[in-house]
Amino acid sequence: MQTLLGKHIILGVTGGIAAYKCAELVRRLRDEGAEVRVVMTQSATEFVTPLTFQALSGHPVHTDLLDTEAEAAMGHIELARWADGILIAPATANMIGKLAQGIANDLLSTLCLATEAPIAVAPAMNHIMWSDNATQDNIATLKNRHIYIFGPAFGTQACGETGEGRMLETHELIEKLDSLFSHESLSNTRVLITAGPTYEAIDPVRFIGNRSSGRMGFAIAQAAIEAGAKVTLIAGPVNLQTPHKVERIDVESAHQMYQAVMSQVAEHDIFIATAAVADYSPIETHDQKLKKSEEMLSIHLHRNPDILAEVAAMNKLFSVGFAAETEHLQDNARKKLKSKQLDMIAANQVANMENPDEDTGFNSEYNALDVYWPEGYIQLEKARKTELARKLIELIAEHYKTKH
Ligand code: PMT
Repeated sequence: MQTLLGKHIILGVTGGIAAYKCAELVRRLRDEGAEVRVVMTQSATEFVTPLTFQALSGHPVHTDLLDTEAEAAMGHIELARWADGILIAPATANMIGKLAQGIANDLLSTLCLATEAPIAVAPAMNHIMWSDNATQDNIATLKNRHIYIFGPAFGTQACGETGEGRMLETHELIEKLDSLFSHESLSNTRVLITAGPTYEAIDPVRFIGNRSSGRMGFAIAQAAIEAGAKVTLIAGPVNLQTPHKVERIDVESAHQMYQAVMSQVAEHDIFIATAAVADYSPIETHDQKLKKSEEMLSIHLHRNPDILAEVAAMNKLFSVGFAAETEHLQDNARKKLKSKQLDMIAANQVANMENPDEDTGFNSEYNALDVYWPEGYIQLEKARKTELARKLIELIAEHYKTKH
């Protein structure tokens, strides 16, 4: 199993006798390479002490919604964002009822409302409680909301009776959690992305650059992480925060970007070239600041290597280019798709630089993409770059899988 490797898992423990089994669950999750934080309800602490889970997870256990110390370190919103997945085990009938009703009166139930990560519950209760209509209605509600239900199993219960209501065994919970993540479209895939502009130095203070902000490339890096990929982002000079879990390499010039990409190619499966790379750079970079003298100044430029074309020509990585065009979007994009031998190209019309907020393409929150591949084409309507990036990543994943 590889899919839990590096995953951030919140284990929510509620007050049932099966809570003792979760000590082993924490250990097994860590053996699988997951990072685990434990959140306990008050009644869970009656069954197992937080200290047990602290020792096993290697982190303080979270128990209170309004805990000033925890808020300073990792409050409920940070925890909700940190999680790649939440597993509630054991999940009591009470907690299942609260989730179904959207009640948020303790840390765990609040977290579940505040997270965008997938949630799974592993019910554990007496078999009559489990089969009660109220519990079954609540379970149906959770399923409708795409909350995963792991178990319960049939067997002897702590109360001495036999029936359906036992929490699944540790190895079964691990397998189910693993399969939940293996549905991610890019799990076990390594994605290399370039983003932002490049600066080509003229002298120590001047350069030739462009208006790329890096937003499109950073949004794609984030979307690829969400899809389960391992991501390396090679960024030109931009002022953006690195998305969580992304490995970032900073460069300035086209030449540095070329070297960084070439050093990473062998380690990756997909290459997405979002960067606006300078096609030319000054032949000479002056050591000292240029002084004004003549009326006219000529700067001689030479062609930079075409990073994308070189990577695509190796025929090893699924290669996706971008094309920023001010005219003949379709024709130019198709030409680039063919001439650079790409698997896919995303073309964006760029215009009206004076009002980037209202616009698409360079230095805007928004974009619209016409995506071409050798046999087809799709239009992705204007949307936030974060939203478009998710759609593009799903498209790339689909085509990448077909090719392999
Ligand atoms: O960064 P943002 O502000 O969010 O803006 C996003 C964007 C507009 C920069 C982005 O969506 C985009 O279109 N990037 C490509 C910009 C471009 O000018 O492409 P191009 O037509 O020059 O190059 C075509 C492709 O070849 C691109 O994938 C480019 O990364 C790649 N290329 C180009 C030249 C070069 N020397 N090496 C390359 O790898």
